[in-house]
Amino acid sequence: MNEIPPLQKTLVVIKPDGVRRGLVGEIISRFEKRGLKIVGMKMIRVQRDMAEKHYEAHKGKEFYIGLIEFITSGPVVAMVVEGVNAVRVVRKIVGSTNPEEAAPGTIRGDFAHTLPHGGKNLIHASGNEEEAEKEIELWFSPDEIHSYTRVDEREVI
Ligand code: RTP
Ligand code: MG
Repeated sequence: MNEIPPLQKTLVVIKPDGVRRGLVGEIISRFEKRGLKIVGMKMIRVQRDMAEKHYEAHKGKEFYIGLIEFITSGPVVAMVVEGVNAVRVVRKIVGSTNPEEAAPGTIRGDFAHTLPHGGKNLIHASGNEEEAEKEIELWFSPDEIHSYTRVDEREVI
């Protein structure tokens, strides 16, 4: 009864369009209000080599070059988000890749409309546990990931 289910960590990145559109606070608060815990956060300008590593799986696809241009076009806000089944839950909060298909109530479904050239869809979230582990290692050093108790933890987990 009092046992805490296994927690997962996942990577969330508010992409340059989200930052430029002033949606950082709105997006962060959706995760916080859901009871997910932010255990790491920083604003950075992604360098090209880092972008290429992050999007390695998409190399060669028709949208790849535009995607690298876009993700390096301005600062992003990167977060490590922790919670029960956090990878899956965060993906649901984010919504489908193409905002046209994203359900209302999701971040992409509420704040984006189409998938313009370059892939502007506001936010990235790790697709599965393996991706999450790899991406967190790429984006964060261990000392940038924190451990603390939220006062509402016992109400949401
Ligand atoms: P993400 O990795 O950013 O969380 O998005 P995702 O899993 O929903 O989508 P993924 O298939 O991994 O694609 C990565 C990003 O590439 C851009 N994209 N553009 N047809 C297109 O123009 C297209 N397809 C993908 C998007 O920015 C997508 O989030
Ligand atoms: Mg993906």
